Amino acid sequence: MVQKYVYGTPFETEAVTARIDGAKGAPIYGEVSLDDGFCFICALGEDDVVYGLGEANRGINKRGFCYVSDCTDTPHHTEDLRSFYGAHNFIVVSGSRTFGLFVDYPSKLTFDIGFTCMDKLSITCERADLYLYVIDGETPYDIVKQFRRMIGRSYIPPKFAFGFGQSRWGYRTKEDFREVAGGYRKNHIPIDMIYMDIDYMEDYKDFTLNEENFADFPAFVREMKEQQIRLIPIIDAGVKIEEGYEVYEEGVKNGYFCKREDGSDFVAAVWPGYTHFPDVLNPEARRWFGDKYKLLTDQGIEGFWNDMNEPAIFYTPEGVKETGRKVQEFFKDPEGDISKMEVDALVEGLANNKKDYASFYHRVNGQRVRHDKVHNLFGYNMTRAAGEAFERIDPEKRFLMFSRSSYVGMHRYGGIWMGDNMSWWSHILLNLRMLPSLNMCGFLYTGADLGGFNADASRDLLLRWMAFGVFTPLMRNHSAMGTRDQECFRFEHVEDFRHIVEVRYRLLPYLYSEYMKAALEDDMYAKPLAFVYPRDAHAGQVEDQLMLGDEIMIAPVYTQNAKGRYVYLPEEMKFVKFMPDGSICQETLPAGHHYVDIALNEVPLFIRKGKCIPVTEAAEYVEALDTTDMEMIGYPGSTYILYEDDGIHKDYDNPANRKILKA
Ligand code: GLC
Repeated sequence: MVQKYVYGTPFETEAVTARIDGAKGAPIYGEVSLDDGFCFICALGEDDVVYGLGEANRGINKRGFCYVSDCTDTPHHTEDLRSFYGAHNFIVVSGSRTFGLFVDYPSKLTFDIGFTCMDKLSITCERADLYLYVIDGETPYDIVKQFRRMIGRSYIPPKFAFGFGQSRWGYRTKEDFREVAGGYRKNHIPIDMIYMDIDYMEDYKDFTLNEENFADFPAFVREMKEQQIRLIPIIDAGVKIEEGYEVYEEGVKNGYFCKREDGSDFVAAVWPGYTHFPDVLNPEARRWFGDKYKLLTDQGIEGFWNDMNEPAIFYTPEGVKETGRKVQEFFKDPEGDISKMEVDALVEGLANNKKDYASFYHRVNGQRVRHDKVHNLFGYNMTRAAGEAFERIDPEKRFLMFSRSSYVGMHRYGGIWMGDNMSWWSHILLNLRMLPSLNMCGFLYTGADLGGFNADASRDLLLRWMAFGVFTPLMRNHSAMGTRDQECFRFEHVEDFRHIVEVRYRLLPYLYSEYMKAALEDDMYAKPLAFVYPRDAHAGQVEDQLMLGDEIMIAPVYTQNAKGRYVYLPEEMKFVKFMPDGSICQETLPAGHHYVDIALNEVPLFIRKGKCIPVTEAAEYVEALDTTDMEMIGYPGSTYILYEDDGIHKDYDNPANRKILKA
């Protein structure tokens, strides 16, 4: 049961697609105060667990910290971080009372979940203009399913997007891409995609190509496709200011960019230098920006990643002017009124500055809306621009699309990646913990930069991270310019990497099938153990294992030098290991705690009692996978319903897509 409470005059975010009538009275689970903005407060029982918040820091159980929904370009995913790139305002409180809350509010919102007071949950924001949805249900899982029905079907990528992808910031020329493609193909490590970061463009101008490096781009796209590799270019939010650049000129002429208070186009520096932001909240401008993707789809491109769409701002002319004045003052008189510390803070504060976000406007339904009041909707609407355009470009076809910034509602148009993480062991765990929380909010197609974006990856870190990445729908190795080369074939004993990626492909029919069922049934692909074993008190505390699909549990190794790990089994399961020689070991383990050995080049998983999964032969790309006669592993006599389609079109409800397989 869902109750919808309306406060003030909410902005229509279109996060919720279901029609839900407004409820009368006040929500029963907490106190709402409208004295100073909006505040919802409720007591937390000692053993209550709080799930949700999508892309957020810390645990699967969100208790004990303060999280702020405020989409931010944040390069340091340290433990104290309160805001990531997305805003996913859905939580479920589970315990003495079990209920879900979704706060549909497009600006900064704070969830203090037992941080200030251990036994209190508070949700606060500056303006009392929002929808609060309160969801009742038997279990957290049941509440999530109701929420997912409210917000509409999750994005479904093409099947090739479940293959492995290689990315790096710094690939510049056709030769760079050929080297990566060759490195994988020569070493027979499966791959389906190579990502193009900003250097493919002409001076970082969206929808352009560096003509010198990419002359006859369609032929190059074909050349890669002949090797069964798709190129996936990045698109950034800011449009470079440059006379003669078509996108810039059209945007200015038609008033499609965000404006300053005086009506001039707002200016912010990002990779290209000074840019304008397309006003993607304005349906007309959104349509115009979305149609630009066609410039690349016409050349054979079938997928994109949208970046810098919080939107990230390095600095603005106004900010530079003001800061410059103060910095000069300091240099003139270091012993004067301005301290070095203030100067440091001022320079650092040039980026993503609140003042800048409060100085530009969108045009929505004829009304001017100040950006900071709808800040969390920018990435959502940039990706929506693309998603809506794909429907016009080819309504029958699925395109790959994922974004950095997001809000609930964007899950209908694309997935997300988890942004600029580090080559740190703790970030494997952070990656694992975000997965179910994101699934709760509808984001099923997701994954992190495997191996870590910033800092240097060690061989063992990459192997362990990839062995976990086998199970994330988006499986992409990406790294930053200036860091150690991180492509699998650059490391010693390439065969270990080949083996791990091959396991992904061997499991792909199963993983794809479970993804599709989750998307089509508004369900989760990755779940906390407690969602499947609600009566098992210990399962509720497990923060480093996940249930995946209906059949398996995963428990990756995320500690350096470990030769295995402790694992908790809520019931008897088959412990399965994919061995480097291609064989599959299976051992039945009783419920309880176990230590299991897992070597660096093995991929473990657990099959639930009475279940089985299909495994196919490895192939070097998705299209070459043969699913006609798959091996079934797990419990003999059990059955599995395989969902399979062409992976290209949208004929999801065809009964022929489901068949029963028997172990
Ligand atoms: C941002 C993205 C990163 C990308 C870089 C350069 O930091 O998060 O993935 O490589 O920009 O485009």
